[in-house]
Amino acid sequence: MPGNYREVYEQSISSPEEFWATAAEEIYWYKKYTTVLDDSNKPFYRWFDDGELNTCYNALDYHVENGCTEKTAVIYDSPVTGSVRKITYGELLKQVSKLAGALSNKGIVKGDRIIIYMPMIPEAVVTMLACARIGAIHSVVFGGFSPDELAVRIEDAQPKVIISASCGIEGEKTIEYHTFLNRAIELSHHKPECCIVFQREVLKANLMPDRDYDWDEVMKDAKPVGCIPVKSTDPLYILYTSGTTGKPKGVVRDNGGHAVVLKWSMKYIYGLEPGDVFWAASDIGWVVGHSYIVYGPLLHGCTTVLYEGKPVGTPDPGAFWRVVSQHQVKVFFTAPTAIRAIKREDTAGDYLKKYDVLCLKYLFLAGERLDPNTYHWISELLDIPVIDNWWQTETGWPIAANFPGIELLPIKAGSPTKSVPGYKVEILDENGKSLNSDEQGNIVIKLPLPPGTLVTLWQDDEKFKESYTDRFPGYYNTGDGGYIDGDGYIYVMGRVDDVINVAGHRLSTGAMEAVIANHPDVAECAVIGVADELKGQLPLGLVVLKSDIDNCHETIINDLIAMVRERIGAIASFKQVLIVNALPKTRSGKVLRGVMRSIADGQEYQVPSTVEDKTVLTDIENILKGYMAGRKENSKF
Ligand code: COA
Ligand code: AMP
Repeated sequence: MPGNYREVYEQSISSPEEFWATAAEEIYWYKKYTTVLDDSNKPFYRWFDDGELNTCYNALDYHVENGCTEKTAVIYDSPVTGSVRKITYGELLKQVSKLAGALSNKGIVKGDRIIIYMPMIPEAVVTMLACARIGAIHSVVFGGFSPDELAVRIEDAQPKVIISASCGIEGEKTIEYHTFLNRAIELSHHKPECCIVFQREVLKANLMPDRDYDWDEVMKDAKPVGCIPVKSTDPLYILYTSGTTGKPKGVVRDNGGHAVVLKWSMKYIYGLEPGDVFWAASDIGWVVGHSYIVYGPLLHGCTTVLYEGKPVGTPDPGAFWRVVSQHQVKVFFTAPTAIRAIKREDTAGDYLKKYDVLCLKYLFLAGERLDPNTYHWISELLDIPVIDNWWQTETGWPIAANFPGIELLPIKAGSPTKSVPGYKVEILDENGKSLNSDEQGNIVIKLPLPPGTLVTLWQDDEKFKESYTDRFPGYYNTGDGGYIDGDGYIYVMGRVDDVINVAGHRLSTGAMEAVIANHPDVAECAVIGVADELKGQLPLGLVVLKSDIDNCHETIINDLIAMVRERIGAIASFKQVLIVNALPKTRSGKVLRGVMRSIADGQEYQVPSTVEDKTVLTDIENILKGYMAGRKENSKF
């Protein structure tokens, strides 16, 4: 690989098949593919179509067979339980093979779905890999989602088995996972054949006879099994993510392309060698957790840190630096919001000074826009390259980044640097016309996407096309807006649809609207994302009440907040509601959400010629401006 980004990038675009075939040599294939890229069924592309491999084999067995039995695979660091545990590749393989055996005994075969609803504990990693080992398709559901959201995913994925834990620990709070699980199964029409529950000391669950099995009991009797070869294009997992409607989208990831690019990215994007310690402070329920807590580091033979804690409060804003120092982390990955949380409590960096973090070579940030203020603060404090990288659940690995493993390009604050090899990023206007440098528009990627990106949506090819490829034929529509400057640096300014990003978590305003609209006193409503200095964005509900209501406004607002928390989850952070007289609309009745977003963000906007009633828009403008000014005044920064 030449040490020149430009050459590597150009090769990936001019000869993609050759480029990715070379990368695929780093993966062990039971049967080598004969075709690198099958494009016979556009817009569905298949990488390494007829190849056969096993992702778990590449992540574990391969390293053990090559002398790494005693090497640390996972460091579980849990300030919330006061424990640190190191798990070797040999030990992890033993656990995974046994759970895979137990699942096979319960009748799980290749292609069956297994939902994983677990906190950040090693058993979650064991479960993901055990599924991969026997070709079962896992679908991890983030713990911050409500039972209703879990139920929607159970209904869609139709799992034979659900694997969960008695509880999660969120700072001071204990989250009753098992109670949530019971409720979700009650709500779902589809019922799993059984559940396996890991009992945590903090809170034991009352297992349901005939349905639940205790993890320890299951493991005690289990016989280890080997890896099953699967096709490159067989699904490894489904990961649900928020779309513009209430129903989440089941992003399907295949085995072959995923293994190839994750291993490639560990070396060339993140600059790591086997044996290095890598830490992604995310959650296994998000794509970052899948790619860079579990699969990427293990495929590359690194040590991965599994951190069950927060950036602040577990116990203080020095928590991240303690972990980096204690485990000699070489590359660290987190979200800008986590850095802002630290900045808020330790602006002078006094907690950082308590630790020796010379081991740390790069800090990668992703999940939301890295605002220049946060970038400058953290890069000056750490005095190492701070690398913004832009990607999505759909792509599974970065679209834009900087490249310590190839060439570290000059950093421009506010930009995640340049296109990752394999991605041809362009900017189009609303009519699909290509825009010039510095002109803002829709960020799209020319098809085919590189390996490892989504292959479709679970059992919904039509929805895949409608969501991603119909709007701009020949391109994948990212849903993000932004521009590319004259030097080829990409600037991602935010979503152009009804998806918002709260503390690095992707949420659908449409889903929140659907919940609020059910309140008996609500006539109509809109939810928009408004800027927040800590979380990047927060949802704000604008609600028009029915004319004949008895309840006081405060009661209604509290009801609405509780409803969203119950139906979507605490993670929605839905805590702000404004009662308004009317919502601005076009003459055809479409609510002007985009205009309201622009007003709240203090951006220029054009009054559409089709606006129904300009006075309504003026009223909303005044309300939103007053509201945002109040928020600024109360800001803790
Ligand atoms: N299970 C259950 N509840 C959860 C949860 C989980 N896994 N994760 C978060 N929640 C709850 C929180 O406890 C909080 O509840 P509350 O309303 O009762 O306080 C709510 O969901 C909102 O959580 P969050 O947005 O995380 O806010 P916070 O105030 O608890 O923490 C940060 C703020 C910035 C510290 C935190 O958001 C953070 O660490 N963000 C980094 C995000 C990240 O890594 N994203 C991955 C993309 S790379
Ligand atoms: P998710 O699918 O949860 O990973 O969220 C993906 C969305 O997060 C993207 O579509 C962007 O809107 C946003 N995002 C992620 N990383 C970045 C980044 N580095 N810069 C700007 N936006 C980002």
